[in-house]
Amino acid sequence: MEDSKVIIALDFKDQEATKAFLDKFDEPLFVKVGMELFYGEGPDIIKMIKARGHKIFLDLKLHDIPHTVKQAMKNLARLDCDIVNVHASGSIAMMKAAVEGLEEGKVGDKRPLCIAVTCLTSLDQDVLDHELGIHEPLEDVVVKWANNAKMAGLDGVVCSPLESAPIHEKVGKDFITVTPGIRLAGNNVNDQKRVTTPYKARSLTSNYIVVGRSITAADDPVAAYHEVSRQFDKGEE
Ligand code: C5P
Repeated sequence: MEDSKVIIALDFKDQEATKAFLDKFDEPLFVKVGMELFYGEGPDIIKMIKARGHKIFLDLKLHDIPHTVKQAMKNLARLDCDIVNVHASGSIAMMKAAVEGLEEGKVGDKRPLCIAVTCLTSLDQDVLDHELGIHEPLEDVVVKWANNAKMAGLDGVVCSPLESAPIHEKVGKDFITVTPGIRLAGNNVNDQKRVTTPYKARSLTSNYIVVGRSITAADDPVAAYHEVSRQFDKGEE
């Protein structure tokens, strides 16, 4: 069977808690390491997870001038993760520089995939209009920024499952969509405003889903992961 396209968000406070979670599994996983864990533990956390044979999406959302992002990506490339990311709002020039840095720093002949955060789901139309001065419908901004990412040579975007089909249609079928906001039926929605099930995300054309608490906070995380994978990887309702 193909590798799972379910990415588990390791939103844990430290290496110890992360290990305790990973110890429950005896299969290769695809996991996401975000700012909290990476800034707390440094590159060692990546080395520990890779030594266990898991794939990694390093979610640091870089956003700076192109030169700085290029140099930072050169360093991140050496960690040999599978996916890294930047903010699309940093400009096409910045996103191009990110890819150049990854090419220069890559281990072996394959660079990590680079994807762009379009509009954070914590932003809404009101913030765009009144704080950021962007007077366009949010959905149009997301598609425009996804297009910019494609033009810069990126491989895909992080977006809502609901934005996945319009992005595939307008930006390209092979442009990857990585979508958080996933819950198993009956789970607590927590702070996510709009959620979909793994099965629904697949039918909405998500290429990868990012799942945190539906797995990490489950009574039986291994069983929850298998249920998410059954729905998303195998397409069983
Ligand atoms: O626990 P939950 O499944 O809501 O976790 C989702 C993960 O995806 C978290 O790590 C969160 O930071 C991340 N994320 C998100 N929405 C975005 C981008 C990232 O929920 N727009």
